[in-house]
Amino acid sequence: MPSIVIVGAQWGDEGKGKITDLLAEEADVIVRFQGGNNAGHTIVRGDEVYKLHLMPSGILYPGKLCIIGNGVVIDPKVLTEEITELGSGRGVDVSHLRISANAHLIMPYHKLLDQEGEARLGKLQIGTTKRGIGPCYADKASRLGIRVQDLLDEKILRQKIYAALEPKRQLLRPYEKDPILDLHSMVEEYRSLGHRLEPYIADTPPLIWDALDRGCNVVFEGAQGTLLDIDHGTYPFVTSSNPVAGSATIGSGVGPKDIDQVWGVTKAYATRVGAGPFASELDDELGDRLREAGGEYGTTTGRARRTGWLDLVALRYAVRINGLTALCVTKLDVLSGLGPLQVATRYRGPEGATFDQFPYHQSILHKATAEYEQVPGWDEDISDIRKFGDLPEAARDYLRYIEDFLKVPIVLIGVGPARDQVIRIENSAAWSGREGDRAEQQLV
Ligand code: GDP
Ligand code: IMO
Ligand code: MG
Repeated sequence: MPSIVIVGAQWGDEGKGKITDLLAEEADVIVRFQGGNNAGHTIVRGDEVYKLHLMPSGILYPGKLCIIGNGVVIDPKVLTEEITELGSGRGVDVSHLRISANAHLIMPYHKLLDQEGEARLGKLQIGTTKRGIGPCYADKASRLGIRVQDLLDEKILRQKIYAALEPKRQLLRPYEKDPILDLHSMVEEYRSLGHRLEPYIADTPPLIWDALDRGCNVVFEGAQGTLLDIDHGTYPFVTSSNPVAGSATIGSGVGPKDIDQVWGVTKAYATRVGAGPFASELDDELGDRLREAGGEYGTTTGRARRTGWLDLVALRYAVRINGLTALCVTKLDVLSGLGPLQVATRYRGPEGATFDQFPYHQSILHKATAEYEQVPGWDEDISDIRKFGDLPEAARDYLRYIEDFLKVPIVLIGVGPARDQVIRIENSAAWSGREGDRAEQQLV
C-alpha cells in the first residue's frame, strides 16, 4: 500500500474513521491534515467504541506514527483530554503521537466568536459545531493566529494573544468581564497545556518525508467532506478548511507527487448536519426511518443528521474535485428493508433546466431538486456478508450502478459499524463482468 488520501465524498460522517482504521493496519504513518475537533470519527472494535476528534484514526495501533499536521486547528484542551482519556483512561499507547509545531491553536475567544457569529446570523446560521473552527482559521489567514510552538515560550505567547485579542474587543464586548478572556489566566492555562503537549510537539514534515523515502505506507486522513470544502463546497454552508484531497499536501507538508491514491468515502445514501442545500433530502417519514436505521446522530454534537438518497450528481463532482482513484461505500446494510431505492442522477433548477453537473451558482444550487432513477431494494440482513458475490442481487446491482455512473472502482463496502463488517474488493471491474466473473476475487 503506497500513500493514500482518505476523503469524505459527501457532507462528512461518511465513515472515514472506520476506513482509516482499517487501512492503518497496513500503514506505518497516519496523518490528519485539516479540520479540528469539529470532526468526530468513530471506530468500533468489538464492544469498544472510540470517538476520535483530533487523534488520527491510527492511534489504536501501537507504534504507528500518528501525526496531527500543520493544517489542523487544535484546541489544546480537547487534545490533552483526548490523550488522557485514551491513554490512562482506556490503556491506549499514545506515545507515537506527534503534533506539528506549526498547527494553529483554537483559543477561548474563537469559541465565543463562533457562538456569537451564529447567534448574530439568526435564521441564516450555518449550524456550526461551535468549536471555534471558523474564527481560528480566520485568524490564521489574518496572521493573528497562535501556533503550537508559541505554547513553549511564555513571552511570545502573551504578545501574540494580546495582539490577537485587540482587534476583537468590540465583538467580544459582551464577554469583557468573563474570566475566560483574562489575558493573564489565558497565558497560564495555555502554558500549562503546552507543558502537557510538549513531548508530542515536533517538526512533522521531515517525519513524513523520511517514511516516504523508506517506502513506508502513509495514510492521510481527511475530516469533514468535499461539499463542506470552503472553496468547492456549498458556500457559505461549509466549514472553514479544505477537506478535499489536494489539502493533504498543504496540511501535512508533502508534495502532490507524494500522493499515490485518493480514496473517497461515501455512504450508500446521504446525510448532512447543519444548514445548507441538500437536493436529495428526504424530509419525510422515510427520512426518519433512514435516520433511525443508520443511527444518524452527530458524533461530535449529537445533532440529528438530515438524511436523503444517494446523490450521484454531487458524487460525480467529488470524483473530479478530489481526483478519486477509488470509492468506499459504507452503511450499505442500512438500506436493507427500505423498499425500492432512489438515486439522484441529475438536478432540476428553479427555472426548469436540468443539470448533469453540480451547479456552481448558489441561486440554482439552493433551489435545485434532485431527479431520480429508481432501482430495486432488498430485504435481507447483509451485516454478516463478507463477499461481494454473497450480497443479494439487488445490492450488487446497486453498487454496480454507482460504479458505472461514477467510473471509479469501489474497493470497500461497509455492512456494519464493526471493523470486520466490510467487504474488500480486489478487482471491482469484476462486478460489471468486464473481466469475466471474478466476483470471488476479493482481498482478505
Ligand atoms: P466519519 O466522521 O466519516 O469518521 O464518520 P462518523 O464516525 O461520524 O459516522 C459514521 C457512523 O457510521 C459511525 O457511527 C460508524 O460507526 C458508523 N459506520 C461506519 N461504517 C458503517 C457501515 O458500513 N454500516 C453501519 N451500519 N455503520 C457504519
Ligand atoms: P467529520 O470529520 C459532518 C459541519 C457543521 C456545519 C459546518 C460548519 O466527522 O466528517 P464548523 O464547526 O466546521 O464551522 O461547521 O460543517 N461539519 C461537519 N459535518 N461531519 C463533520 O466532520 C463536520 N465538521 C463540520 O455541522 O454544518
Ligand atoms: Mg463524523
